[in-house]
Amino acid sequence: MTETVWQLDHLLHGGDYYPEQWQADPDILAQDMAYMQEAKITTATVGVFAWSALAPREGEWHFAWLDQVFDQLAAIGVNVILATPSGAKPAWLARRYPSVLRTDENGQRQLYGERHNHCLTDPVYRRYVAEIDRRLADRYGQRSNLLLWHISNEYSGACYCDQCQAAFRDWLKQRYGNLAALNEAWATTFWSHQYDDWAEVTAPMPSGNQTNGGQNVDWQRFVSAQTIDFYDQEVKAVRAGGSQAPVTTNFMAETGDLLPYHQVDYAAFAKHVDVVAWDAYPGWNEPKASNCQVAMKNAFINDYFRGLKQANFLLMESAPSLTNWHPNDRVRAKRPGQLKLTSLQFLAHGADSVMYFQWRQSRGGWEKFHGAVVGHDGSDQQRVFQEVSQVGQCLTQLQSIVGVPRARAKVAILFDQENVWHMANTPFTPLNRRYWHALQQQYQYFWEQDIPVDVLPPDAELSGYQLVFDLMAYATSSALEAKLTKFVRAGGTLVMGYLSALVDTADRAVLGGFSPVLRELLGIYRLEVDSLFPETVNTVAYRGQQYQVTDTAEVITLTGAVSLATYTADFYAGTPAVTYHSFGQGHAYYLASHNDQAFSAAFNAQLVEDLGLARVATIKADPTVSVQRRATATGVVDFVLNFTDAPRAVIVNTGGVDLLMGHQIDPGTQTLARDGVMAIQH
Ligand code: GLA
Ligand code: ZN
Repeated sequence: MTETVWQLDHLLHGGDYYPEQWQADPDILAQDMAYMQEAKITTATVGVFAWSALAPREGEWHFAWLDQVFDQLAAIGVNVILATPSGAKPAWLARRYPSVLRTDENGQRQLYGERHNHCLTDPVYRRYVAEIDRRLADRYGQRSNLLLWHISNEYSGACYCDQCQAAFRDWLKQRYGNLAALNEAWATTFWSHQYDDWAEVTAPMPSGNQTNGGQNVDWQRFVSAQTIDFYDQEVKAVRAGGSQAPVTTNFMAETGDLLPYHQVDYAAFAKHVDVVAWDAYPGWNEPKASNCQVAMKNAFINDYFRGLKQANFLLMESAPSLTNWHPNDRVRAKRPGQLKLTSLQFLAHGADSVMYFQWRQSRGGWEKFHGAVVGHDGSDQQRVFQEVSQVGQCLTQLQSIVGVPRARAKVAILFDQENVWHMANTPFTPLNRRYWHALQQQYQYFWEQDIPVDVLPPDAELSGYQLVFDLMAYATSSALEAKLTKFVRAGGTLVMGYLSALVDTADRAVLGGFSPVLRELLGIYRLEVDSLFPETVNTVAYRGQQYQVTDTAEVITLTGAVSLATYTADFYAGTPAVTYHSFGQGHAYYLASHNDQAFSAAFNAQLVEDLGLARVATIKADPTVSVQRRATATGVVDFVLNFTDAPRAVIVNTGGVDLLMGHQIDPGTQTLARDGVMAIQH
């Protein structure tokens, strides 16, 4: 486990490189080297799916090609991020040892093929992965251009084989000690599900039990823990091979909502990596959402990945142009200038790299038309190649930010992955997505106002923050409740909201109607929860204005708080919908209903004023232009990003040097082109 954070000394520009696909074509490999220099590539991620190229048969090792790749890259000054190949397995392994294949949730062992579909418990799989990892470390661990280990690829999914189910039972024995405690936690007297023997306990499966919340959440916890354990074993093998280079793996967010991948708790996983790295595929230029909306969501998820270690992170993959698998029937190319704008957004939020999937388009396979730096035309004159080269140039001009963390924000939004797993069990589905949306909605206000936000896991330290949101905290632990109480008592401002503290960490309902700790902290008591149909309209009256209520409205009563807003309709008309409680040195608010964006703006504007929260930017822009500040060793750089479809005027209050254009920007009004970006150092 590592709490340390690896610091880079230069911004990385690179991407996934698959020379094993071009071994029969040395001209192409030579061209790659020339082109990488042209595009100012500093780093190549190699070996991600190279197992069968390294070991085409059991016991037969082919390292010569990879030796040459290391040599060739070293000769042009390019570093290697070396992947362990466990993301995809060779056919011989599955044929000889079928236990490596994953079993699906119907108990059906899968056939050979695809990727990211192995049994992570199987000792055979673990042994073969450890062997190849150790050999790679032994052979390349001392290479001067080995920068970082990329352990496996996008760990995901779950296996339901007998070995995994046995491991689940062992995990449960560790957690509960005995069956009586498990029965108690899972409330198994309901529907007569009491267990009398550990052998009776299974994973939740469609043909078995899928409705016990405690069982479901524990299974998710187990899958996450087993994934991290598998990763740990890979790191151990790398260390056994003699390499001490830093380690990471690539995290994911789903496209669309940009919600973190749901089957691994990244907050827990982040403690095992030296630097957080993630793969980003936002849906730019799609009709569903404006690019501003996408930019806001992308800002949010970047702040989440930065928050995992409260440190700079890596953008491990992104699309240089189109992403061929977006689920829309259509895929849009990035229009001219957009690659630079969208790439620099990651940097603005704390990334120390811009890396792509992929360097060169593959000849065959599922991703042959996925955007790449070098297309099938093999030309460096192509627009995408030229724009990638420009990004490379920008990175060389932005070196002053590398390794310097963004200053801590004063505002934090908590996100708890366990909460997502609990919410997946509720009859009011699909709450888990609504949870992320609710957080995004608050975030949007701060993003538009250029007020920095840290998105934090629930175990993060809160001292130093002025304002903390813990919304839809459906499952709360007593540890978190105690922490929030301490935070407010010491002078912090807390905003909680509807559907909080309905269950405990075992997924059992909280008795007594509302958590006694929160009742004291918030000065309210929940009487009922009303779940609204989309057609149902209610409103809240707040400071002389009316705002729409959708989705959820709770009926609450005051036990010490004062009401700031009331419902206008239904049987709870006139009752409190937003409350304020003075507690200790601090302030606790409760939002009893899901109110519209206009409400969030009005409510948060008031908080910003009350707390004197400053815009960090010295640039006053209209809300659709985003300004994010990064520190340098001696000053700051303000990234000014225009995601709208038109030029925008921005008013620069404090002048400085635009590091991208290399000239002085004087105070006053500037025009930022459509898809334009400035990086003003001062
Ligand atoms: C993921 C994978 C890559 C590739 C890209 C394509 O992030 O890690 O191997 O499939 O998606 O977008
Ligand atoms: Zn398994």
